[in-house]
Amino acid sequence: MFRKSKSIVGLDIGSSVVKAVELTLEGPEPVVTGFARVEIPPGGTTAEAIEAAFREGRFRTKRVVTSVAGQDVVVRYVPMVQMSDNELKRAIRFEADKYLPFELDEVVLDCQGVANTERHGEEQEGAGGENQMTALLAACKTERIEERVQAVLAQGLQLAAIDVDLFALANAWELCGVMPGDVSEEARGMALVDVGATRTSINVLFGGQTCFSREINIGGQDMTQAVARRLSVEPFEAEAIKRASESHEAEVNSAIAPVLEDLVSEISLSLDYVEHHSGFAVEEILLSGGGVLAPGASGYIEQACARRARTWNPLEGLRVDAKRVDVEELEAWAPTLVVAVGLASRVRAA
Ligand SMILES: Nc1ncnc2c1ncn2[C@@H]1O[C@H](COP(=O)(O)OP(=O)(O)OP(=O)(O)O)[C@@H](O)[C@H]1O
Ligand SMILES: [Mg+2]
Repeated sequence: MFRKSKSIVGLDIGSSVVKAVELTLEGPEPVVTGFARVEIPPGGTTAEAIEAAFREGRFRTKRVVTSVAGQDVVVRYVPMVQMSDNELKRAIRFEADKYLPFELDEVVLDCQGVANTERHGEEQEGAGGENQMTALLAACKTERIEERVQAVLAQGLQLAAIDVDLFALANAWELCGVMPGDVSEEARGMALVDVGATRTSINVLFGGQTCFSREINIGGQDMTQAVARRLSVEPFEAEAIKRASESHEAEVNSAIAPVLEDLVSEISLSLDYVEHHSGFAVEEILLSGGGVLAPGASGYIEQACARRARTWNPLEGLRVDAKRVDVEELEAWAPTLVVAVGLASRVRAA
């Protein structure tokens, strides 16, 4: 799928904000050579936001990797007999309908072997011997893929690949989080949690490998709506008040508390489930997405999940070309750029 290309723009078409990050390989090193973040205003369109992002970003390339997410995307961990990825792609068609809530003719399928199942309890149930593996199966409604293809091509861009938000999180972690030969990763369970506007993506890694992922339909928009109800203001005013919460600190905090409570209860359920089925501890939560910028959010998640939690900057350790990128702006929004960085990280395979 990839022709030789040294730059890729990771284009995260979020439900409220379009984020684009360009990575360029300088030798083996990925360098940030472009960045844009454009909010989709009430009444505005995604197409306008993408166009604006490419105007502002002044990227070197038109080659993009974008993603799909949400209800029309399903990710499953399927126990299979050990086989090559090519064999797996053929074999999975016979297994897929058992695992998917969709008809096979309405989806695009992809799959990849992820790991031997021994470590991961959930998959262990169906898989016994040494020649078993876990296949990561992803399916997306064809119309969603087509929408994305159109959104990209309509702007005169070239589409290098379409990924899934959940996987992009893990790819961003792999790019920036794991130092080569870092043995401490081997035995560590951690959760990547991205709180967006409409949804929260959870990806649990063990020893750096994905073993569980899930989306929850709770996000920053729910917080905005709660503030709007509490203060009897329009959503756009509530949005501004939420972000500059000093002016109404007590009201904002108490309005968003029930949303955070619901969110944390879903996150905790997922993490407890993983621990119960796998026997390893999820020690740390890395938070990202615009939703975690809400006042008190990360502290509350840490305390209520009873696990170490910190807001994650996916650009840590990456060199930034300061001649092309507004470094201050980039740093300010870094925690919301995890998916875009994960998408652009495919430049290494280009
Ligand atoms: N300073 C802030 N304080 C609180 N919330 C904020 C702040 N800045 C942004 N947000 C919220 O972050 C959300 C946008 O984050 P993000 O860019 O991660 O979402 P998205 O990718 O568009 O959404 P999704 O992933 O659900 O499609 C909005 O709900 C916005 O209200
Ligand atoms: Mg998002």
